[in-house]
Amino acid sequence: MLAIGIESSCDDTAVAVLNGKRVVLSSLVSSQIKIHEKYGGTVPEIAAREHLSNLLPLFKNALEGSGVLLKDVDVVCVTRGPGLIGALLVGVSFAKGLAASLNVPLVPVDHVHAHVHGALLGLPQKISTEDLFPALTLVVSGGHTNLFYMANETSFELISKSIDDACGESFDKVAKLLGLDYPGGPEIEKRALLGDENAFPMPKMMAKKQSLDFSYSGLKTHIVYTYRNMKKDKKNIDDLCASFQKAAFEQIIRKVKIVLQSKRAQSVRSFIVSGGVAANTYFRQLVAQEIDVPAHFPRLEFCSDNAAMVAAYGLALYEQQKNKEDFQKSYWEPYSRYS
Ligand code: KG4
Ligand code: ZN
Repeated sequence: MLAIGIESSCDDTAVAVLNGKRVVLSSLVSSQIKIHEKYGGTVPEIAAREHLSNLLPLFKNALEGSGVLLKDVDVVCVTRGPGLIGALLVGVSFAKGLAASLNVPLVPVDHVHAHVHGALLGLPQKISTEDLFPALTLVVSGGHTNLFYMANETSFELISKSIDDACGESFDKVAKLLGLDYPGGPEIEKRALLGDENAFPMPKMMAKKQSLDFSYSGLKTHIVYTYRNMKKDKKNIDDLCASFQKAAFEQIIRKVKIVLQSKRAQSVRSFIVSGGVAANTYFRQLVAQEIDVPAHFPRLEFCSDNAAMVAAYGLALYEQQKNKEDFQKSYWEPYSRYS
């Protein structure tokens, strides 16, 4: 099946064309980072206006790059939420119009859940859905640190989440404190490579509590005090980045291990990691060393926001929905928050 994916939930406009769930024919992303940088964060109205001017040319380029003719498209998939409502409205309106004009089904998808499917893009066909699910899945980005149990590729049961900052958000905030560029994750990873990860003692977040939830604000506050009291030379900053990065990821590894020891997790066949933070090489190595079930990470281009993951998840939803006519109804709306 040929699917078009459309993503406009935050500050990336994205369009992709897929031939089935894993084969990406084209995937384009137009980033607004440079525009929002000077404001210190994404400005919702500017984001929406940028999507409005970027989406149509991006769509035309993605279609041309895929070699697919519009008349052959079988389904349109679009991010319904969570995200900035004005930004979402641009993508959703465009997708509704496109699906109506082609007279094909329109599949609305949850952005956070779609990230998981980004990790499966390009997987060889010999790895079947049954080889992957039930799965433990982690979406770790600038907005989310969510751990799910997934009995199959479309069922998401939230096991735990961050009670304060998301993991990526803590990288961004710590980087800002240390005077590094935005987004902070890749900058901290680079500096950490040069540092000693045991140089500064770090608190073990949520260690005593039975809760499987994550917390990052205490770690961030600890960095604020450590930074205030240390000599601010290059070596110390490298060491602090390495120590912070280790603590940030050890918390995740600890919780994932606890979940994998539970009775129910005995049937889990894979650990699927996705979201912007999944690009981190140190984290990938830590997972390979510490987690016993087979792990899957997205290709780098599919870690951060993209529309290929939207089309892939939309196709999975379309396949498993018995009543296909449900996708012809267009009275649903976008939603801003993760529920
Ligand atoms: O998924 P994403 O592109 O956007 C959303 O938040 O939805 O994730 C962006 C986040 C940022 O917080 C960024 O600092 C983080 O992912 N990130 C990283 C790395 N690359 C991106 N964090 C740690 N290490 C990295 N290499
Ligand atoms: Zn995202």
